Amino acid sequence: MADQNHVTPSEAEIAVHWGEEEYYHPSPEFIAQANLADRKAYERFSLEHFPECFKEYADLLDWDRYWETTLDTSNPPFWKWFVGGRLNAAHNCVDRHLPRHRNKTAIHFVPEPEDEPIQHVTYQELYLRVNEFAALLRDFAGVEAGDRVTIHMPMVAELPIAMLACARLGAIHSVVFGGFSGKAAAERMVDSGSRVLVTMDAYYRNGKLLDHKEKADVTVAEAAKEGLTVDKVLVWQRHPGRTSSPTPLVEGRDVLVNDLLKEYRHRTVEPVSMPAEDPLFLMYTSGSTGKPKGAQHSIGGYLSYVAGTTKYYQDLHPEDVYWCMADIGWITGHSYIVYGPLALGASTVVYEGVPTYPDAGRPWRIAEELGVNIFHTSPTAIRGLRKAGPEEPGKYHYHFKHMTTVGEPIEPDVWRWYYHVVGKGEAVIVDTWWQTETGGFLCSTAPALHAMKPGSAGPGVLGVYPVVFDENGNEIPAGSGRAGYLCIRNPWPGQFQTIWGDPDRYVRTYFARFNKDPGSQDWRDWPYMAGDGAMQAEDGYIRILGRIDDVINVAGHRLGTKEIENAALSVPEVAEAAVVAARDELKGTVPDLYVSLHPGYEAGDGLVKRISEAVVKEISPIARPRSIHIVPDMPKTRSGKIMRRILAAISNGSDDVGDVTTLANPEVVETIRAMAQGAR
Ligand code: WTA
Repeated sequence: MADQNHVTPSEAEIAVHWGEEEYYHPSPEFIAQANLADRKAYERFSLEHFPECFKEYADLLDWDRYWETTLDTSNPPFWKWFVGGRLNAAHNCVDRHLPRHRNKTAIHFVPEPEDEPIQHVTYQELYLRVNEFAALLRDFAGVEAGDRVTIHMPMVAELPIAMLACARLGAIHSVVFGGFSGKAAAERMVDSGSRVLVTMDAYYRNGKLLDHKEKADVTVAEAAKEGLTVDKVLVWQRHPGRTSSPTPLVEGRDVLVNDLLKEYRHRTVEPVSMPAEDPLFLMYTSGSTGKPKGAQHSIGGYLSYVAGTTKYYQDLHPEDVYWCMADIGWITGHSYIVYGPLALGASTVVYEGVPTYPDAGRPWRIAEELGVNIFHTSPTAIRGLRKAGPEEPGKYHYHFKHMTTVGEPIEPDVWRWYYHVVGKGEAVIVDTWWQTETGGFLCSTAPALHAMKPGSAGPGVLGVYPVVFDENGNEIPAGSGRAGYLCIRNPWPGQFQTIWGDPDRYVRTYFARFNKDPGSQDWRDWPYMAGDGAMQAEDGYIRILGRIDDVINVAGHRLGTKEIENAALSVPEVAEAAVVAARDELKGTVPDLYVSLHPGYEAGDGLVKRISEAVVKEISPIARPRSIHIVPDMPKTRSGKIMRRILAAISNGSDDVGDVTTLANPEVVETIRAMAQGAR
């Protein structure tokens, strides 16, 4: 893993300058109302009480049948939580709230165009709409428990409705980020063997109505090439009653959901009582190879974990108005826009558009209008909002009690702007570290119990015990100032169950490196390796240094460098491609692409543009390289491995590319440096 090709933690550590350590404290008002205000909770969740401590989270849910075994470790590392229990996720997120919260808003849908009214979907309306769509999925599209349904949709209320309809039937949803290309959606459909695609004709982004239906046609065609027939394409209309996409419907395959739903009006579907360990959803994420992996999450463990962490770390109370400004197409949206808040019967905001449209005051106007008091976003969004309108928050009369940052390391000065200007010095901040695979937060301060430290996620959350290992699996003591591999000692209920269709990869990627004994059934021998480098300070707080594998976090979006390289390689002239992470003032990191060409070809004829377009077509505009350098040759070891470390140093403007003596072609380094650094 951490061979010379990768940025090892110690190098990453050197690259990060965080400034002095400082602490901020929650206000007495916040502490007085907090859900988690008693330090004894950490004793209840100590390893001594593991795994039974997680009963407290599971008891936040309604169970059709209570479980017999809290944690089954008989087939490591395929842990099973709440075995024997049965429940339904849609019942837990919708039906059970009706007696007390029928007329309360479950979802505030905020369209991007400001003149379009906000929709306040009550729990009663959510109940009706989830039932109707579940009936349609079952009776029209033939979806049954265990089937996979791919949902490729923008940020609209119909997206959580579609997810909950699947959950009601016991079907497994696989939501693909709306910004991904049709081809990327096809790859995920094929991998999951899903025959139903739920999509929408169009959506608004940055002031434009974008055609989304055209992507569905690409998805079906690309899936067919891989032998998968998509039976049904269910197309929601962004504006019910009118068509917003110029792409025609395909007879016999595509249907307009809004029309067809008229036949299912007021139809109800009994929530299917599912075993706790059955999958709730797949969420595809990037890893070290070019193939995205389907992280499989369970119904009982996952839902318990997101309900518990939402309650304690988001400090969500039923009367709060909660806005997580992420996209439901990523894990943050699944856990902390949809499942966590709805499991607790709160009001959650779904915003369609970009934060800075039409101007950087938009989020604060939304917060003011809806009375948002808990706000959750990413460092990239914070940096963008600060740049576009550093004084904007002060112009609006909203009051946050709590704010979250997630997805990337946050620089202390960005943190301070978030705290003083966005939070007006009133709100606590939690910096939550976690991953698609982990289902929910793993490191964070408890908002009323721990002081905040800009730039650091907190200690392990309740019942989660992080540890930093060196190369050889020895623990690096907290406070030693040394970086290493961030791992988690113990399983937790939100942990993914496997990689869909590839259990070996699950074991290899996350557990093999630090496993103590492959035959052991003791969870203590199977620490989870996260793939991040980290340091633990003396106070136990974890500082995340970034990925140590071939994953790049662009504006909080997780992408595989191999996926981008493969897209570049689809251009015929390209012989070799290497992507490295370059630091960026706004987006944290961005991909820089280096390519060499097959003999006989030259740069020209818009080659750079074609490569860039190939990346967008294969993946998404979010993966578009910042710059594309066509180089005469790649720096390589004698065994032919591309030394990405050297390219990364060049991309980051470093004068020191490190040791080049192991290269077969050291002379190429200066040529590349002159080209790349000269180009900016
Ligand atoms: C990074 C997103 C620093 C990390 C929830 C991780 C963070 C990857 C933080 C997972 C944080 C997430 N501070 N880095 N608070 N949270 N990361 O799967 O590198 O999209 O491994 O899940 O984001 O990205 P993913």
